[in-house]
Amino acid sequence: TQAEQLVLPSRSSTGKVAILTLNRPKALNALSSPLFAQLNQELEKADSDDEVRAIVVTGGEKVFAAGADIKEMKDKEFSEVYKADFLGDWSNITKIRKPIIGAVAGYALGGGCELALMTDILICTPNATFSQPEITLGIIPGGGGTQRLAGLIGKARAMDLVLTGRRISGTEAAQWGIASRVVEEGESVVEAAVKVGETIAGFGRIAVQAGKEAVNAGLELPLEQGLKAERRLFQQLFATQDQKEGMAAFAEKRKAAWTDK
Ligand code: HXC
Repeated sequence: TQAEQLVLPSRSSTGKVAILTLNRPKALNALSSPLFAQLNQELEKADSDDEVRAIVVTGGEKVFAAGADIKEMKDKEFSEVYKADFLGDWSNITKIRKPIIGAVAGYALGGGCELALMTDILICTPNATFSQPEITLGIIPGGGGTQRLAGLIGKARAMDLVLTGRRISGTEAAQWGIASRVVEEGESVVEAAVKVGETIAGFGRIAVQAGKEAVNAGLELPLEQGLKAERRLFQQLFATQDQKEGMAAFAEKRKAAWTDK
């Protein structure tokens, strides 16, 4: 029997943006281990596919994900989750080199919120719902929620979300700096995310990859070392044909023809 397709891969019309749609609607896209394994597999595939320039991760226009699968977790024991490093593979997504755009409508709760926080650019609907409700289940966020939220929105707001489980809207998420864009009510968040992906797809791949790498390096390093990492990457781009082409095209008032070399 064929395994259930818990993540549906598709492509934008140009083929340059891979769209990965979480597909467990009956459980509000609860992130079971099999679902996450498929997501990781599809992310790897998209990352190594030369045609793909950006990746959209979404649950579609209704719900992003209502968290890790509570029914799968409820009877687990410490010895089991510790030995198997339960949910350790969730952070694989942060190793992907291509830009990942999260498109969030509806619930992004618990692990769903944490998955959204692991994307590079987050776009949502005004009435999307973000929260870390783990505290209501006797646990805490385990997919980076406490760490990434504190870095993104500061201690007071992170504590407020993590310790009260309260919900914030997409509009608030953007005001707080969790999301970078909010679509108009009724507008497709997936289409908006694909558009961002297509914009990125129009640039040279090496510079795009370096830009992502530099921002991420800075999030982990002290400022001085982050600036050094950025400067080295910046300088290295002068060894690429795309730098020559991009600057020549500007001087000649024409569109650059990137070769990704
Ligand atoms: C398993 C889930 C689920 C989840 C929803 N479902 N969320 N199953 N795990 N996280 C299932 C329900 O059991 C139900 O299945 C179906 O989806 C529809 O959900 P309802 O509750 O009937 O829908 P509704 O009344 O509209 O309420 C929606 C909701 C509620 C408010 C989102 O489902 C809810 O509170 N879900 C749990 C949210 C949560 O606590 N998430 C954090 C999980 S812990 P049936 O079979 O009854 O139809 C976590 C840890 C992360 O994420 C750690 C990361 C490393």
